[in-house]
This record gives sequence, structure tokens and C-alpha cells, in this order.
Amino acid sequence: MRLAICSSKGGVGKTTVAANLAVTLAASGRVLAVDVDPQDSLGRAFGVVAKGPDDSLGALLEDPPADARPVIRHDVAPGVDLLPSHQSLESVAVRLAASGGLTTSIRRALRPLWDAYDHVVLDTRGDLGALTLAAVCAADSVLTVFTSDPGSALGAARVAAFVEQQRAYENTSAVLRGVVCASWDPRGRAARDVAAALDASGLPVLRARVPMSRRVPASTLAKRPVVLTSPASPIAAAYAALTEELLGATDRGVAA
Ligand SMILES: Nc1ncnc2c1ncn2[C@@H]1O[C@H](COP(=O)(O)OP(=O)(O)O)[C@@H](O)[C@H]1O
Ligand SMILES: [Mg+2]
Repeated sequence: MRLAICSSKGGVGKTTVAANLAVTLAASGRVLAVDVDPQDSLGRAFGVVAKGPDDSLGALLEDPPADARPVIRHDVAPGVDLLPSHQSLESVAVRLAASGGLTTSIRRALRPLWDAYDHVVLDTRGDLGALTLAAVCAADSVLTVFTSDPGSALGAARVAAFVEQQRAYENTSAVLRGVVCASWDPRGRAARDVAAALDASGLPVLRARVPMSRRVPASTLAKRPVVLTSPASPIAAAYAALTEELLGATDRGVAA
């Protein structure tokens, strides 16, 4: 599975989901985690920071024949390699967009690596702009997240429409594989209302819900995803269920 994690805004839990899924997916094969956010938060979730522009995804995008392997950080977690981002990705994307090469840039740069990995997890920044499209273009599946914020049901619908539109444009063959709650508060009425609105929307809402947990900010401080810092916790169990659900959907070939 090549999974891009997208949302129409930031701060909804994408990077947390991406980092934890990278670890849990590694139980079923080798994983490459790719940070497509110039704010480089996915790398930071594993304590990885690029030394400079040449040491990051942006360098590979600007120089497609470049061998990706020296830029990859190996075994940031068991079975997980990571391609870090750097703030220079912003200007790289502007230059590539001007020359018409941005949309396919991530797919072109990563294609030589496909055979080395069973799963690729691409974390994106919180918008549905051209850099996010480049990540979706390199993916076969898209996951989006919701929270107890009432606006997040609309956000999930926007991601669904975005994926469909880009499929119609033939920019990608990726499908929206799931909509998952990244921070579930069972006591909050707002969260239940958002979940009910999404259930009625026909979007592929996943049964697994990641609970809101104080362990998440603590794991950020520890620079390790929570499934590694608290492997026996309810939140780790939720991530395991989410992973199984995603892989089951993939095995059954569920499409949008
Ligand atoms: N399940 C959770 N429980 C508690 N806090 C969470 C949870 N998931 C994410 N967070 C917190 O929410 C904030 C935004 O998460 P992040 O993954 O960085 O979002 P995004 O990548 O969409 O901007 C972070 O401070 C993160 O620690
Ligand atoms: Mg993020």
C-alpha cells in the first residue's frame, strides 16, 4: 500500500497518524515513511531532522536521476525507513510548479524504490494544494482524518472531492481508502455529532477510532510514536485495529 495522509487543514492529527501507521504497518512488511510537509514534522516524530536541503526529499525532486538511498534514514523504528523533509521543500515546489514538473515529481523520485518497500506512508501538509497533489499522485490510497471539530466533517468531504477530481484529471489512480477519527473523545457530544454526520455522508468512515490521549504529546517529547512508547495502551490497540482495517480494505480491493 502507498498511503497519502491528507486533510484540508493542519493540526488535525495527520502526522501523528502517519508516524504511528508507519510503525504498525512494519509488522506486515518494510515501510518507507515520506515527509511531504516543509515543516518536517514526520521526521521530528522519529527524532530525525535533515542536515540541510541536500539531505532531504526536495533534493531528490529537483534532481530526479539522483539516487534516493543516501538521503533515506534507515531503521528509524523497527522495519521503518524515513525520507526527511526540509523547509527548502517550499521553494523546490515553487520552482517545479513553474516548470510543470511538480505533480509527478514525488512519483518519479520514489518509483525506483517501490520494489524495496511493501508500504509507503506519505505525510502531507494541511492543505489540498499542489504539493499535496504530488503526494497523492505517488500514492494508491488516501487516508483523511477527522476530530471533534464540527468543521472536520466538511474537511473530509473536501478531501473526497479532491481525490475524485484528481482521478478524473488522471493525475492519480489513488482512491480514498478511509476517513478516521484521529483524536476521539467519547464524552464529547461534538465528536459524536461529527461521526454521525460522516456516517450519513457515504464516505468510507473506518470503524477504528484513535482515542484522544495524553500519551500522544508525551510521545512527541520522547521523539517516538506512541505505539512504541506505550505499546500496551488503548491508543496502541486502536492503531493496530486501524492498520488491520486499512490492510483488509486493500486486500479486498475496496475502491472509491
Ligand atoms: N490522539 C491524540 N490525542 C491527543 N493529542 C493528539 C492526538 N493526535 C494528535 N494529537 C495532537 O494534536 C496536535 C496536532 O497533531 P498533528 O499530528 O501534528 O496534526 P497535523 O499533522 O494534522 O498538523 C499535536 O499537538 C498532537 O500531539
Ligand atoms: Mg503534520
